[in-house]
Amino acid sequence: MSASYDIRDGIAVITMNNPPVNGLGLDTRIGIASGLERAQADASVKAIVITGGGKAFSGGADIREFGSPKAIAEPNLLSLIRALELCSKPVVAAVHTVCMGGGLELALGCHYRVTAPGAQIALPEVKIGLIPGAGGTQRLPRVLGLETALNMIVSGEPVKSELLAAQPGQKLFDKVIEGDLLEGAVAYAKEVAALHAGGQPLPLVRDLKVKHPNAPAYLQFARNMVKGMSKNFPAPGKCVDAVALSVTAKFDDGMAGEREIFMGLMVTPEAKALRHMFLGERAASKIPDVPDTTPVREIKRVGVIGAGTMGGGITMNFLNAGIPVTMLEMKQEALDRGVATIRKNYEAQVKKGKLKADKYEQRMALLSTTLSYDDLKDADLVIEAVFEELGVKEAVFKQLDAVVKPGAILASNTSTLDVDKIAAFTQRPQDVVGMHFFSPANVMKLLEVVRGKATAKDVLATVMAIAKKIKKTAVVSGVCDGFIGNRMIEQYSRQAGFLLDEGCTPSQVDKAIERFGFAMGPFRMGDLAGNDIGWAIRKRRAVEQANLRYSKTADLLCEMGRYGQKTGAGWYDYQAGKRDAMASPVVEQMIADHRKELGITPRKISDEEIVQRLVFALVNEAAHILEEGIANKASDIDMVYLTGYGFPLHRGGPLCYADTVGLYNVVTAMKRFAQNPLDDAAFWQPAPLLAKLAAEGKTFS
Ligand code: NAI
Repeated sequence: MSASYDIRDGIAVITMNNPPVNGLGLDTRIGIASGLERAQADASVKAIVITGGGKAFSGGADIREFGSPKAIAEPNLLSLIRALELCSKPVVAAVHTVCMGGGLELALGCHYRVTAPGAQIALPEVKIGLIPGAGGTQRLPRVLGLETALNMIVSGEPVKSELLAAQPGQKLFDKVIEGDLLEGAVAYAKEVAALHAGGQPLPLVRDLKVKHPNAPAYLQFARNMVKGMSKNFPAPGKCVDAVALSVTAKFDDGMAGEREIFMGLMVTPEAKALRHMFLGERAASKIPDVPDTTPVREIKRVGVIGAGTMGGGITMNFLNAGIPVTMLEMKQEALDRGVATIRKNYEAQVKKGKLKADKYEQRMALLSTTLSYDDLKDADLVIEAVFEELGVKEAVFKQLDAVVKPGAILASNTSTLDVDKIAAFTQRPQDVVGMHFFSPANVMKLLEVVRGKATAKDVLATVMAIAKKIKKTAVVSGVCDGFIGNRMIEQYSRQAGFLLDEGCTPSQVDKAIERFGFAMGPFRMGDLAGNDIGWAIRKRRAVEQANLRYSKTADLLCEMGRYGQKTGAGWYDYQAGKRDAMASPVVEQMIADHRKELGITPRKISDEEIVQRLVFALVNEAAHILEEGIANKASDIDMVYLTGYGFPLHRGGPLCYADTVGLYNVVTAMKRFAQNPLDDAAFWQPAPLLAKLAAEGKTFS
């Protein structure tokens, strides 16, 4: 049982003990229920306090139980809350630190609530595509009023307990307790026990009325607002529907309505996708052969080599986390430019009110610069972000190997080079790892951690831990060309190119995939990142990939000098200083001429075909990547695409989406594409893993 029971001064204290956040799994629920029974059976107990041990009151339902028999096994959360309401002795919730979701719903079932200041109070279910399902939508408006409660439920954002307690007329908290919470809660429980000693009825939130001067008008306003903000996601609108019942229906009918809406959302692909994301982010930090108990190395000082686009962004991550960084360059001007860019980024944040001026200065004070490797000798972690050339990397890693202290981690931000080769430039390949950040590195959540042949387990564990500290979603990838993300995107880009050859315009392709939910289509993306990058890679690989089929339009575009936004023209035209992509007659003519040269008669291609070819290209390559062990699990690949490539969140990543479509359907479509003489039949051979799963009726998850 994950809850303890003891008696203090005639008050029973039930303490939830289910680290890390006292999730309300079956064991915890049984613990609370049996504590309640014991307290009621014991004549010497006058009242009951419920609280949470460790670092939370309760973070809410145990999401791992969702969909399993445990989630509904008795006592389920609803019946537990009912048992609290029906308890013959006063029950006081003693809230602190974190009180969210089911934890807050549990507290709302108690007769009284006291809180420590600073507790985070929230109903965050909307963030996993749901509404609160244990009375939250009916009880919170009754204690906080319609508007505050609706805001909290629709946004899922936490509010500090003392702010809520200070709201006029609120009935969420009966008292804010400064100092020892448990002591204060027990004293308060004694007070209320005395109050009810004569058998006076205990107060229940369900008996309160929701107050609002014009609820129908407010709810209509809320519906309109939410509709505009939550495209692709049904849950926020359903939150409004459920909260509306707290005004229009009797309590028990409102509860029934909430349940119905909750169950309906539970099976939507959007909720499934958001749950997948929630669990996938947590699972990404788990590496099968690197247990949680693996010791980590201490990272107190970081070195960054190269103060260009990536080096500057990487540096900011560590400064933000309070870790000092020394940036090294070849020339003073390059350092000055790098520092100026960092300052400019921070100043923009200060201007927008996102960063306080003193914080900005504190961060800059953690930054030092140098032209000498000697100044890196005490660094615990050095990240290299110099030009993407093996020779340059070799020079850098040899120098690092010569000066940096033993045990330091040497990381490369390379996006295409072989991390094993880079490791071999040193006498300490076990300390070398890839840390592949995404641009802009201070903004993008994704970090691919590239595990070399020799990379030590404690190096991996350390990098995963430091990634968490700098707030990245870290996913481990094995060594291969492009790692997980770029290796897949290459196939997606190849398909985008074939689509041009066959009859599409760049904007037709972009619009189709953007309607599917991608933040940006492949051609707008190319213009943003610079089309010359891919061109350079293709030229470098010309020999090894001589037989690889791809559309030559991308090369022709670069030959025209149209590198993208930075040259004012790419797949699209741009007006000076603006980022709006305008269809380019010149580019469309170039594509048409190219078709003519190949003897292709353009055909009309449906949006559905465009989306399927682009997305299934990702899926098939992902299946190869899984099979080769480059990725440890399917959800890791989805995390790469959700956090680094703008894959639509409501679809849960390429593999989650493929599971939703059905792998049999994916393979069937691929067989159809393979018949297309202008496409690459070899490419559309389903990866063996995909074929096998489809044949067995299984899924990636
Ligand atoms: P960049 O050209 O903006 O910056 C490179 C910097 O390294 C320059 O300031 C240069 O002066 C400096 N540098 C070159 N050789 C050096 C040496 N021997 N010692 C010290 N400093 C040296 O390049 P960018 O875009 O920042 O790329 C750096 C690395 O990051 C490359 O390996 C690239 O593949 C990788 N990368 C780039 C991404 C991007 O979107 N730009 C994304 C992910 C990785």
